[in-house]
Amino acid sequence: MERELALEFARVTEAAALAAARWVGKGDKQAADDAAVTAMRVMFDTVSVDGVVVIGEGEMDEAPMLYIGEKVGTGVPPQVDIAVDPLEGTNIVAKGLTGAISVLAVAPRGSLLHAPDMYMDKIAVGPECRGRVYLEAPVKENLREVAKALNKLMSEVTVVILDRPRHQQIIEEIRRVGARIKLITDGDVSPGVAAAYQDSGVDMLLGIGGAPEGVITAAALKCLGGDFQARLYPEGPEAEDEIRRCHEMGIANVEKVFTIDELAKSDDIIFAATGITDSFLLKGVRYYQRRAITQTLVMRSTSGTIRHIEAIHHLDKKPLFKNNLIKLKMD
Ligand code: FBP
Repeated sequence: MERELALEFARVTEAAALAAARWVGKGDKQAADDAAVTAMRVMFDTVSVDGVVVIGEGEMDEAPMLYIGEKVGTGVPPQVDIAVDPLEGTNIVAKGLTGAISVLAVAPRGSLLHAPDMYMDKIAVGPECRGRVYLEAPVKENLREVAKALNKLMSEVTVVILDRPRHQQIIEEIRRVGARIKLITDGDVSPGVAAAYQDSGVDMLLGIGGAPEGVITAAALKCLGGDFQARLYPEGPEAEDEIRRCHEMGIANVEKVFTIDELAKSDDIIFAATGITDSFLLKGVRYYQRRAITQTLVMRSTSGTIRHIEAIHHLDKKPLFKNNLIKLKMD
C-alpha cells in the first residue's frame, strides 16, 4: 500500500472520533455509535482503495453501514481488507468514562482473519516480551516472563483486564503472584496496543473480550512489533450458532490458538486510531473556540513508522460538520 494512504486513514478515524465525541456523557450509546459510523462511512468514500469491510458493524441485514462485506473506498486498487470499529467503547462515551477510540486496520485482501462478533480469549504484550508468553501457559509463568523481559519486579508489572465476573479467577491468580491490575469498564483495544509502549503504564492485556477487537489489536501490535495470541470463545446459548458462523467464515477449528501472524497475515498493514475520550494510548477530543484537537496514532508495518498526529480542526470549516452531514441533535 502507498504510504500516503496512512494519512488518508488517519483522517477517517479523526472524523469518526470528532462525531462521537459530541455524545460524551449523554447516556446514548446508540446515537454516539451512529454518529461515528456515519462520519467514518462518509470519509471512506474519499480514500483511494478498493476496500471490503471484513470486521465491521455486523452482518448486512443488521447494519445499515460498514457491514461485513460492504465495499468502501473509491474502488481503485489496491484491493484491501478493512477492519473497523468507528466507536470502540460505546458505553464509555455514553457515560463519559476513559478509554474510547475510533479505530481501523487495513491490509491486503485476504490477510485479516474474518472473525464473527463473539468472544475471544486474548493475551497482548509489547516487543520485549515477543515469543515469551503463551495464551495457554499459566498466568504465573507469563507474568514471570514479562517481569524478566521488562526488567521489572513483579510488583511493578501491570496487567489490564476487563472488569467482568468471568475474569474473577484470573484476577485472583494475578493478585496471588503480586502483579498490579488495572480493571477497565470497556474498550480492550487501547490497552492491548498500549502494552507495546514502554511509558503507557500497561505491560500486558489479558482476558476475554470481543473477537473483532482482537483482530484489530493484533494488526496494531504487528506494526509495533509486539505479540498477541487468541482463541475464539463460544459462550452461552449462542455458542452453537457462533461455532456455525465460524465455520461459515472459514475457521474450521474453533479451539485453535491463533498467533499474531494468523490473525493479521500480511506485513503490509496500516493502523489508525483517534482518541475520543482519554485512554492509555491517546488523549480524547478537546474543544476550544470553535476548534477541536484530536490525537491520532497511525502506523505502517512495512516501514515500522509510528506517527502521533495532533490535529487542530476548525469545526466551522469542516464540510462534514458544517453542512450537517452528521446529525448533531444536541447542537
Ligand atoms: P462496544 O461494542 O460497546 O464498543 O464495546 C467494546 C468492548 O468493551 C470491547 O472493547 C471488548 O472487547 C468487549 O466490548 C467486551 O465485551 P463485554 O462488554 O460483553 O464483556
